[in-house]
Amino acid sequence: MNSIVILGIESSCDDTSAAVIKDGVLLSNITASQSVHAKYGGVVPELASRAHQQNIIPVVNEALTVAGVSKTDLSAVAFTRGPGLLGSLLVGTSFAKGFAQALEIPIVDVNHLQAHVLAHFISEGTDNEQFPEFPFLCLLVSGGNSQIIVVRSYSDMEIVGQTIDDAAGEAFDKCAKVMGLPYPGGPHVDRLAKQGNPQAFVFSKPQIPEYNYSFSGLKTSFLYLVRDKIKENPNFIAENLNDLCASIQYTVVEILMAKLRKAAKDLNIYQVALAGGVSANSALREAFQQHANKYGWKVFVPPFAYTTDNAAMIAITGYFKYQNNEFCALNEAPYSRVSM
Ligand code: KG4
Repeated sequence: MNSIVILGIESSCDDTSAAVIKDGVLLSNITASQSVHAKYGGVVPELASRAHQQNIIPVVNEALTVAGVSKTDLSAVAFTRGPGLLGSLLVGTSFAKGFAQALEIPIVDVNHLQAHVLAHFISEGTDNEQFPEFPFLCLLVSGGNSQIIVVRSYSDMEIVGQTIDDAAGEAFDKCAKVMGLPYPGGPHVDRLAKQGNPQAFVFSKPQIPEYNYSFSGLKTSFLYLVRDKIKENPNFIAENLNDLCASIQYTVVEILMAKLRKAAKDLNIYQVALAGGVSANSALREAFQQHANKYGWKVFVPPFAYTTDNAAMIAITGYFKYQNNEFCALNEAPYSRVSM
């Protein structure tokens, strides 16, 4: 039987990434991140798409070289079709179409959120790898999403809960901005929280039904506390930075885990996976391990390389779709917003 070799391309936001997967095993995963946005305090879409244009060819080239495969070995090109920034998506989509057309191979469109979930099936070809079994729950937490997903198969996923306002990553980033930390603030909050007291400040927790999330109340409660304290002491933030970070982080993790516990119990599913950029957070990772010990959950926490945007997760999703003959027509356009 011929090998299935998939080139995955990810360009939904500010990371240009290419990866090669052969028969389900990852051979390379190359990412060029864009530093140009740091001074603006957020991703500038026009600058992102220009940087993707500069990066895409060298990144794909490097991914093929590291994998030791020639472009003529490829079975298909998988690409992120959405959701994401339209200009950024257009670069990856157009490249994938042109490249595949020239090689006379099919293209496979990939939903970025579905790929974050399927990142748990990336194999590095080593012994003792463990993958979740269906059905499992996945907490997908990033800068744009906070969702609880029931994963029944590679293609059958149901969002049973999601944020009604800000995402968890946004809560970290917005609070970090108020404290004068660089963008994205999440990793800085995580770092500073290690020296802080998580019980130092108490912030409001949302009371909303079912498995849905809300983080706008936390952000407002944080903002009001800081505003009032600064009136008494102008150095309040600097003098309490670690405690503020630890307390925000504690509250975000508490909010995330409470709904996840409820979903696991109600749905009777105790295999629980974590995905998305915020899954890099050390307190959230620790909470997963604690839940494994306390409630007997079997937890799946991704390696750091697969928490942020990466093409390995696009390639593995493309690999599964390829096996199902799920291809994409050349006239399909990227989409900026869509659910799973
Ligand atoms: O999935 P992702 O890379 O892309 C977007 O959805 O944009 O997630 C990025 C988000 C940002 O909000 C960032 O602050 C957050 O993930 N993040 C973290 C940590 N690392 C990244 N939040 C908390 N703690 C971290 N260690």
